[in-house]
Amino acid sequence: MTEKDFLPSEYTSQKDTGTVRWKSPSNIALIKYWGKKPHQIPANPSISFTLSACATDTSLYFQKLDTASKSHLSDGKYSFDLFFEGEPKHSFKPKIETFFQRIQIYLPFLREYHFRIETSNSFPHSSGIASSASGMSALALCLMSLEKEFSPDMTREFFNQKASFLARLGSGSACRSIEGPLVQWGAHLNISGSSDLYGMPYPYKIHPIFENFQDTILLVDEGQKQVSSTVGHDLMYDHPFAEQRFAQAHTHLDTFQAVLADGNLDEFIKIVESEALTLHAMMMTSHPYFVLMKPNTLEIINRIWTFRKASNTHVCFTLDAGANVHILYPENEKKIVYAFIENELLQFCQNEKHICDRTGQGAKKL
Ligand code: PMV
Repeated sequence: MTEKDFLPSEYTSQKDTGTVRWKSPSNIALIKYWGKKPHQIPANPSISFTLSACATDTSLYFQKLDTASKSHLSDGKYSFDLFFEGEPKHSFKPKIETFFQRIQIYLPFLREYHFRIETSNSFPHSSGIASSASGMSALALCLMSLEKEFSPDMTREFFNQKASFLARLGSGSACRSIEGPLVQWGAHLNISGSSDLYGMPYPYKIHPIFENFQDTILLVDEGQKQVSSTVGHDLMYDHPFAEQRFAQAHTHLDTFQAVLADGNLDEFIKIVESEALTLHAMMMTSHPYFVLMKPNTLEIINRIWTFRKASNTHVCFTLDAGANVHILYPENEKKIVYAFIENELLQFCQNEKHICDRTGQGAKKL
């Protein structure tokens, strides 16, 4: 598939008004995407667990604009209102405006309608959990449902591919939030069908242990991200270790194939923790440089290592571009690992805040 394949052909149907609603999950990368080329093309391929509890619920009401209202729209503008958790949210509008501009050529009806976007998250705002993946994928799915009204013959496969393609143009990792439980994004020589343009369900064997993996998210540091992901990705330009890092992600994906097929948790842990620490190492060794872990992040990591050794369990961690810790473990170790989290780790979270999540099957139409 190329970009051209996502340009719409003639619409066969019309609809003046209506509502669509999608609930779309967040995702957590196991092999990380860090660094990008123009138009949200990843510098290296990545793979993620689709989550279940952390999700965005978005309703899109659409109403065809009459000629007079259309002529009032200034150049490059769109007609929409945005509500976040029931309140108008003007600060989100520029991001949506940019998103609409980027996807206009793939959804030419965007300027024909007035939209009312109502959105809410299942996780607390300012929890430090990025909502861009679930938010952008939910909106992309709503827009695709609208396009499907105009092209009723669209296949489910194309629907998901284009939803992922559009979500990517909103926020790169959002393209991994359409399906589940494991999604791969970015061209890789040994992964058939993989593309820089969209994420796809991981196409090879997945051991059942990964179908219901647990992710307990420890909120070490709530609030605004210290480094936005746009700034973060840009740090990979002229980074002294960029090429080695991109090559490492390809190698990790190769190794992951057998790990995922066999359910080899010891090897899974080695790759997942190495990826998390490499992501942070990239930020510590860029110009300017950043330390995004907090003392409590490190304390948690050390305690996980000590506990893992003593308990013979398969608990491990991963990190996003921030201080919060995602604790990953198989469901059959839930009792013992969660007791450890409660007894030893929650003290390092802000007000003991944490979210119990697990792998999920992707977005749902409501
Ligand atoms: O989708 P973005 O541009 O917010 O980038 C996300 C990058 C990481 O979360 C750090 C890694 C990843 O692959 O999700």
